[in-house]
Amino acid sequence: MKQLSLFGDEKKDDYQELGQYFTPEWMARDIVKSIKSYLDKESVDILEPAAGEGVFIDALREELYDKNVLISGVEIDPKLKSRLDDKYRNDRNVSISRNDFLNVHAKKKSDLIITNPPYVRSQKISRLQKLRLQELSVDEMGIEVSGYASLYVYFMLHAHCFLKQNGMSVWLLPGDFLGNNYGRVLREYLTNKVDLLRMHMYTFTESYFENATVSSLVVVFKKEQPTGDVLITKGSRMAVPDEKIDIQKNDLETDKWLKLFNVKSEVNIVGQRLGDFVDVKRGIATGNNAFFIKELPRNIAEDNMLSIPVYDPKLFLNKDTITDANVNVFKHVLYTRLDREVIGHKYPNLEEYLKWGEDNDIDKKYITSHRKVWYQQEIRKSPDYIFGNIFNAKRLERARFVKVDTDRIIATNSFLLIYLKPEFKNMKDILFDKLTKVPHSQFLEIGRVYGGGMVKVEPKELLELRI
Ligand SMILES: C[S@@+](CC[C@H](N)C(=O)[O-])C[C@H]1O[C@@H](n2cnc3c(N)ncnc32)[C@H](O)[C@@H]1O
Repeated sequence: MKQLSLFGDEKKDDYQELGQYFTPEWMARDIVKSIKSYLDKESVDILEPAAGEGVFIDALREELYDKNVLISGVEIDPKLKSRLDDKYRNDRNVSISRNDFLNVHAKKKSDLIITNPPYVRSQKISRLQKLRLQELSVDEMGIEVSGYASLYVYFMLHAHCFLKQNGMSVWLLPGDFLGNNYGRVLREYLTNKVDLLRMHMYTFTESYFENATVSSLVVVFKKEQPTGDVLITKGSRMAVPDEKIDIQKNDLETDKWLKLFNVKSEVNIVGQRLGDFVDVKRGIATGNNAFFIKELPRNIAEDNMLSIPVYDPKLFLNKDTITDANVNVFKHVLYTRLDREVIGHKYPNLEEYLKWGEDNDIDKKYITSHRKVWYQQEIRKSPDYIFGNIFNAKRLERARFVKVDTDRIIATNSFLLIYLKPEFKNMKDILFDKLTKVPHSQFLEIGRVYGGGMVKVEPKELLELRI
């Protein structure tokens, strides 16, 4: 279905780097139609900060025919910019500039900002750019954005400066920010810094999975003190939603906004193959756990550039969810891309430790000596779940899943890292519930039993689990 690829296309083309997933025309028109009643001015200055093919500009020209509109579009891609120039050559009310919106300063402010911003995942944003964008969000908004945030988070925060007081902002976003950790800054922004008016979740039934829903979300707010209720709606049309409910602003303080849409209740996944919902990878091979995994002094442990907590079930008995609050019980694994010069300069203790490692031939072990830089681990995103894939047949309860609700944890290769496919991110809790109920005997069926009763489940085998 077309809407699935709106945010979830995995093709490795250039357009992915610029997050070029265009809004369907009908959807842009549906959105503009739905926000028209909030626009009380006759003349409206509008900004489309990621214009693409101009789908929103066209919808605005069509639906706001009875208003004086002046539309400025920004687009980074020269090919698209020249197409937009051709398209609006004879339209005096539309002007397009070729720019990186995140590099533009707000000289002129707008009554309305409307867009579907680029959806570029954090892994596709270079470290330098990330640092610059993080600084920008702190400078402009006093907001610290997680290094795991997708580009649209920075886009939305930066756009705040381009909005007139009382101006309105309308964003078509992937629904993931409702529940994930890096989305928290947006949830806080929408709760405390602006007046959130409406959120609409587009729901479509994907034929491949009967009853499973995928979502994209429209967020509408004004740059004003928060007052009144928020209208929450759901359905295949924003202008004529299937369900609607008014929610008090106080109830938005709940951490998981997904609940507002009650999306879980619609999903029926019983008996499906786990691999249809997730990807599975082995944990990282450090090359020498004794050297790389340490209890670190707090100040070093908290420096995201150097290390990341590493899962250890012995330190986490009887708990089933790793969160930001409990991640500190774990030791840390050295997890950095910093080069030696920077380490020598900024982290003399670590430099000394690395030298000690070299004196003791840690850099000459099989894995370390095959790396480009011997101490630099492969960097992986924190998973959605972790699974201990080696256990004894007599102690099948050891084969258990933990849920990961933080973006600061990794596991070594005695574990499997499980990642929800993008379109199923909103099913994290319900899938976890199913995983905890899988009969232990199934692990014997999918895995291999070795001498002495050891059972091992390989990544490919885990995909075959029935949930
Ligand atoms: C998700 S597409 C959406 C386009 C259009 N808003 C729509 O709804 O169809 C995002 C667009 O932003 C552009 N883009 C990406 N990074 C940008 C940036 N830093 N500044 C301005 N435009 C950017 C991409 O080239 C792409 O055309």
